[in-house]
Amino acid sequence: MKATPTTGRSQRLYRKAKGFIPGGTQLLSKRPEMFLPDLWPSYYSRARGCELWDLDGRRYLDMSYMGIGAAVLGYADPDVDAAVRRAVSRGNMTTLNAPEEVELAEVLVRLHPWAKMVRYARTGGEAMAMAVRIARASSGRDTVLFCGYHGWHDWYLAANLAKDSALDGHLLPGLEPKGVPKCLRGTSFPFRYNDTDEFLRLAHRHRGRAGVVVMEPIRNKPPEPGFLEAVQRTARQRGMVLVVDEITAGWRLNPGGAHLGMGLEPDIAVFGKAMSNGYPMAAVVGKRGVMQAAQGSFISSTYWTDRIGPSASLACIEKYAALKVHRHLAKTGNAVQDGWRRLAGKHGLRISLDGIAPLGHFGFEGEKALALKTLFTQEMLKRGFLATNAFYASWAHRETHLRRYFAAADRVFGSIAACLARGRDPEKLLSGEVCHAGFRRLI
Ligand SMILES: Cc1ncc(COP(=O)(O)O)c(C=O)c1O
Repeated sequence: MKATPTTGRSQRLYRKAKGFIPGGTQLLSKRPEMFLPDLWPSYYSRARGCELWDLDGRRYLDMSYMGIGAAVLGYADPDVDAAVRRAVSRGNMTTLNAPEEVELAEVLVRLHPWAKMVRYARTGGEAMAMAVRIARASSGRDTVLFCGYHGWHDWYLAANLAKDSALDGHLLPGLEPKGVPKCLRGTSFPFRYNDTDEFLRLAHRHRGRAGVVVMEPIRNKPPEPGFLEAVQRTARQRGMVLVVDEITAGWRLNPGGAHLGMGLEPDIAVFGKAMSNGYPMAAVVGKRGVMQAAQGSFISSTYWTDRIGPSASLACIEKYAALKVHRHLAKTGNAVQDGWRRLAGKHGLRISLDGIAPLGHFGFEGEKALALKTLFTQEMLKRGFLATNAFYASWAHRETHLRRYFAAADRVFGSIAACLARGRDPEKLLSGEVCHAGFRRLI
C-alpha cells in the first residue's frame, strides 16, 4: 500500500498513549512531534532490513535513524536474532550467571587493548551513570567536566542547575533539571568539542575538585589538531579519569570504539546501542586500576545479568567485524551526504551538512528551517519514506534503497525550492504543525 500522511491506527494509538504515558513515549527521539506532529506513523507492526510497516499495514523505507542508531545491521538481523532465540530457548534468566558475559568481556578487551576489565548495563544512560560513579570513586573527586549529550541521569542534568542554558549546544538543548537535587549544583560543567582553551580554563578553575572528564571521541566534526591530545594530557596530569562515550559513535568507524583510530587512550569507554543491534546491552570497558574502584561502590542490578544482551552483542560484533560493516557504513553515509549536497545545489537550496559519514545530517538554512524540515518529512512520508534531516547508515541500506530515496528527495527538494521561489510560507503547505526542535514539554 502506498503511504499517505493521513491518520490511522498508529496516529490514534499515539493520542491514546499520551493519556497514559507522560510525553507519550519513553524516548524523546521517538516522539512523533520531533518529526511530523499528528501525522508521523509512531508505531510499527513489524520491521526487516531497513523497512518497516505501521499499524495500518503501510510500508516505509527507513532513511532516518534506524532505531535511533541501534540497528546498525538492520532490523530483525537473522544472525543476531538467531543468537537471541538460542538464549531464550536455553533460559534467559536464572539464579546463575550467563557465561556469554565472560566471552563478551574477552572480545571487548581484545578489541580495546588498552582496557582490561568490563562491567555491563542495559542502556546507554545507565552505563554512563555507572562510568561516572566508577570514575568518581577512582579519582576520589566529585566534579565532572563534560562535552556533549550523555543521557538523562542526575550527574548530567546537574549542569543545568547552575545555568539553564548550560546544556544548550550539547545535542539536546533546553533539558530541564526539575527533580535533580539542587545540592548537585556545581558538580558538572560543560565544555565545547574542539574548544581546547575552554577545556583548559575549566580544568584549571576546578583543579583539585574535577576528577572526571566525559566526552564523545567524535560526533559532528573531526577533532581539531591538538584538541584530543590536550584533553588526554590534562586529564593525566591532573589525575582526572577520562571517559569516552561511544554509545553512538562506537561501531560506526571501525569494529569497536571510534577512539581507536584517533590516537586517544581513555581510562574508560562506554558502549551501547549498535553493540547489540537492537537488544538492550551496554558495556563500561576500562583500565584495571580504574575499574577496580567499582568494588568500593555498590553497582548492581538484576537485569544487567540477562543472557539476551551479551548473546546479541557477541553475534552482532562477530558479524560486524567479519563483514567489515564500517566500510559499508562509510560508503553509504558518504553517498547520502553527497546526494543531499548535489540535490541542494541542483535546486538552489541552502543547506548545511554535518556529522561523520555514518551519522550524517543536514539543516535547511534560514528562519523557516524547522518548517522546511517538517515539509521534507511530510512529503517524503507520502512517498513511503521515514525521512528527516538525518540519516544513520546501516548494513541493510543498499544502492537500490538510495536510488529510490534520491528519486523522491529530488522531487521534494524541487517542490520546496519552488515554494521558496514563489515566496510562499512553507508552513502553509504543512498538513499539521511544525515539528519540535530539541526538548519541549508535551501536553
Ligand atoms: C552519546 C550518547 N550518550 C548517551 C546516550 C544515552 O543512551 P540511552 O538513550 O541508551 O540511555 C546517547 C543516546 O542517544 C548518546 O547518543
